Amino acid sequence: MKKTPIGIFDSGYGGLTILNKIRKHLPQYDYVYLGDNARTPYGSRSFEIVYQYTLQCVKALFAMNCRLVILACNTASAKALRTIQQRDLPKIDATRRVLGVIRPTIEAVGQITKNQHVGLLATSGTVQSQSYPAEIHKLFPEIKITSEECPMWVPLIENNEFENVGADFFIKKNVENLLKKDSQIDTIILGCTHYPLIHKQIEHFAGERIKVFSQGEVVAKSLADYLKRHTEIEERCSKGSSCSYFTTESSEKFCSSASIFLKEKIAAQHLELK
Ligand code: DGL
Repeated sequence: MKKTPIGIFDSGYGGLTILNKIRKHLPQYDYVYLGDNARTPYGSRSFEIVYQYTLQCVKALFAMNCRLVILACNTASAKALRTIQQRDLPKIDATRRVLGVIRPTIEAVGQITKNQHVGLLATSGTVQSQSYPAEIHKLFPEIKITSEECPMWVPLIENNEFENVGADFFIKKNVENLLKKDSQIDTIILGCTHYPLIHKQIEHFAGERIKVFSQGEVVAKSLADYLKRHTEIEERCSKGSSCSYFTTESSEKFCSSASIFLKEKIAAQHLELK
């Protein structure tokens, strides 16, 4: 039985924040990271386009032998995961698995909020998909969730402008907008894998009373738990502690920008999607 790496997918660099946490919790496995940097951001794109792009990238990771793929992207998890799981996987290979980031995030947040008033900061795509409210109401019907679209944040982060005063203007504006909609919010979900990079600024504008929740840690723990429960999948994961990086953009560009997210130098390869 051939053992293969775990695939981690994001529209761009944001998934590296999830990969970091996963590798910290599960350092023994091999990983393949794929960033669709040539077509990022996904956040402003339609349901159909995000679905098509995500499926194409999942197939590319399958072609690299990954049997388990994590959509380390909220927009892809919100707009494509369900369809891929229910419609595509049975046709492609019913033994392969694709998992997202929304469910583990919600499970954790349901335990954190004290007054059942939760805020969501995310891309327009994730907010408009209504996936967070839909999933939260399945598990915690008593929670009131209020959302705010933050269309400027991903471009600011991808362009390494997030520590400048210009970025603070947009971060403050969106956090304040969210809290105007519901002043009782006690927990804010960072529903985009890029946002951990501006966690501190968000915390600052939200104020001490509010818990700002980044999802990397819970996604990593939930993957660890999943692998414990699904030994048939775990047994087929190779354990060489390696990570290879692929991007649909130029590999030089990926390596230089990835250093914003990873505090180490990496080598990446360009991948032509078919
Ligand atoms: N990292 C993606 C997410 O978690 C958003 C980036 C994008 O808009 O492509 O939603």
